[in-house]
Amino acid sequence: MVLSKNTIYEPLQMFGIVATVFGATGFLGRYVVQQLAKMGSQVLVPFRGCEDSHRHLKLMGDLGQIVPMNYNPRDVNSIKTAVAKSNVVINLIGREYETRNYGFEEVNHQMAEQLAMISKEHGGIVRFIQVSALGASASSPSRLLRAKAAGEESVLKEFPEATIMRPATLIGTEDRILNRWAMYAKNWGFLPLFGGGSTKFQPVYVVDVAAAIVNSLKDDGTSMGKTYELGGPDIYTVHDLAEMMFETIREYPRYVNLPFPIAKAMASPREMLLNKVPFPLPTPSIFNLDQIKALTVDNLVSENALSFADLEIKPHKLKGYPTEFLVCYRKGGPSFGSTVSEKMGSADVAPRF
Ligand SMILES: NC(=O)c1ccc[n+]([C@@H]2O[C@H](COP(=O)([O-])OP(=O)(O)OC[C@H]3O[C@@H](n4cnc5c(N)ncnc54)[C@H](OP(=O)(O)O)[C@@H]3O)[C@@H](O)[C@H]2O)c1
Repeated sequence: MVLSKNTIYEPLQMFGIVATVFGATGFLGRYVVQQLAKMGSQVLVPFRGCEDSHRHLKLMGDLGQIVPMNYNPRDVNSIKTAVAKSNVVINLIGREYETRNYGFEEVNHQMAEQLAMISKEHGGIVRFIQVSALGASASSPSRLLRAKAAGEESVLKEFPEATIMRPATLIGTEDRILNRWAMYAKNWGFLPLFGGGSTKFQPVYVVDVAAAIVNSLKDDGTSMGKTYELGGPDIYTVHDLAEMMFETIREYPRYVNLPFPIAKAMASPREMLLNKVPFPLPTPSIFNLDQIKALTVDNLVSENALSFADLEIKPHKLKGYPTEFLVCYRKGGPSFGSTVSEKMGSADVAPRF
């Protein structure tokens, strides 16, 4: 079926959005579900883990508005059931490390392709949003970003009207960068800076990315078949962002500079052992080989790319509210009274217990 402006806009206008959000149990998922629920949409949440994985999402809507559905990403029929009653599919499935069960290719490419194929066959899915990653490219040094690029290509082949979102590194309360850095710095007293921390990137507030996804559903189909690069308003080096983290948690910034070859060597054993030992290995934290490889090149929004402005969003600056969650890493716990003290000129206030 070829989707025209009317076939898209009318069902969404008349019957409202019924969205199946794959990957809703993750970090970005909770913000997407919250914003969809806030505008009155019904949200179907396929989950594969235990009941706890989606419990927080049910509170975001009225009774019956958020519908968890058990599914198996390798079972086509369970995916078909999850999308059967929807008119919108959003794919947030992704993982930045491999496990014994799932490789980058399957999670970030093949699953996306399968969802797009099933959504096309369904006939009533008018919008498909594929969340990829900034820097996705067949020539990236990162296998994850190469898999993301292949995923985008396959999705567009199966569902040419799909909208591709490429967010930069996500920042927010549950993020996997500032929380990990802060935890590492608290435990070890320093932060390793890979390649001197000079790589440039454009971290973005998670709420802005969720808003971009939801706004792309509100248009009259203009975002269909388009790719958006969603980076924050400011360009940081890794070192700049680490300085902001240290300032917020009020710790003296101490770094250990790790040249890329040494960082890669330190992160390699997990990758080498992954499929050779008969038990699961710990989840990589800061020493994630693929992420270290990705850091060897700058990752910025391209000059002529469509971005937040095209979806009528002004992304937040990271300093301030978006990174305030880091106060819980201050000595003695959070000190929310500090803002007043800082205004009075004393940043070195005693923490409140
Ligand atoms: N976080 C970032 O900084 C960042 C930056 C750029 C792009 N992205 C992309 O944005 C999307 C959402 O990111 P996120 O930070 O919200 O990721 P996340 O917190 O890791 O959540 C990922 C979601 O994907 C699901 N998933 C992972 N592996 C799966 C598998 N093998 N089978 C089925 N489901 C699986 C997870 O389900 P379970 O809960 O069952 O594990 C979870 O719901 C991903 O595609 C990610 O690659 C993220």
